[in-house]
Amino acid sequence: MSQQVLAPAADQAQAIATVWQTMFWPNVVIYMAMLAALAWALWRRRAVVADAAVQARQERNWVRALVAWIVFIALVLTAYTAVSFVQDRHRLAHAPDALRVRITANQWWWQVDYLDPDPSRQVGTANELHLPLGRMTRIDLLSGDVIHSLWIPALNGKEDLIPGRSTQLALTPRAIGHYRGECAEFCGLQHAHMLLPVTVESPAAFAAWLDARRAPAATPASPSAVRGQQVFESGTCAMCHAIAGTSADSHAGPDLTHIASRPMLAAGALPNDRAHLAAWLVDPQAFKPGTKMPNPRLQPQEVSDLVDYLEGLR
Ligand code: CUA
Repeated sequence: MSQQVLAPAADQAQAIATVWQTMFWPNVVIYMAMLAALAWALWRRRAVVADAAVQARQERNWVRALVAWIVFIALVLTAYTAVSFVQDRHRLAHAPDALRVRITANQWWWQVDYLDPDPSRQVGTANELHLPLGRMTRIDLLSGDVIHSLWIPALNGKEDLIPGRSTQLALTPRAIGHYRGECAEFCGLQHAHMLLPVTVESPAAFAAWLDARRAPAATPASPSAVRGQQVFESGTCAMCHAIAGTSADSHAGPDLTHIASRPMLAAGALPNDRAHLAAWLVDPQAFKPGTKMPNPRLQPQEVSDLVDYLEGLR
């Protein structure tokens, strides 16, 4: 997963990289010239001049050199300001046909909702963001508790998620691939486990993915998975989680309708496979101390059934 600021994969990150490149190389040259001038000034011997006329001429030359230097610096800073202003307009531009997404940060996971004028076509997922290549996605950022900050370095700069306010982030990806998003503002014990993996795919692949998210959860395919669904709906799981197409419909924790298709568990705390899912269900606090998920206190058979059920939710 790329996390490179200087390998931009979206228009907005390109704008930031352009500002960086514009300022970096001239600054290297200017800094080297300054060091060379300093070395020369320290090295050379100053001749003692008694002649008042020669002294006055030298003084005038120094004043001229100083004024030229000030003008040069003012021009460079003005050019930097102009580049920064233009690139910032690019970074903050909004396309009218942008795909609309809402991301809500929580301690310590991301709720991701794909908005649609038709509410029945809205899609909710968690801890994963898929984006279509070449089209702007405009994201409304909200927080459910404290201040978080979303940073996907290869796609755009940081943007804070603030309780009671809505901030915006635009992403226009230009390269298919996987990118790493992180929470970039300390938000409590598990701040480091707030990963948001981003997948940029072709518009057709994105549409197929979004359609698959719209479908209700898969029907359990084995007797153990059927028992697992019962454990989920009758136990503590359903008090916080939703699985579309079942009676579980609480949104205190991540939506789990398609959990098996996600890259990671617990917002990047664990790989998404059978063994880690089972271990997580037995003792969440051991892997993510402070997580709001309590120990569900399941019997070994219930854990096994529940894993069979959840692993079928692709
Ligand atoms: Cu959320 Cu740090």
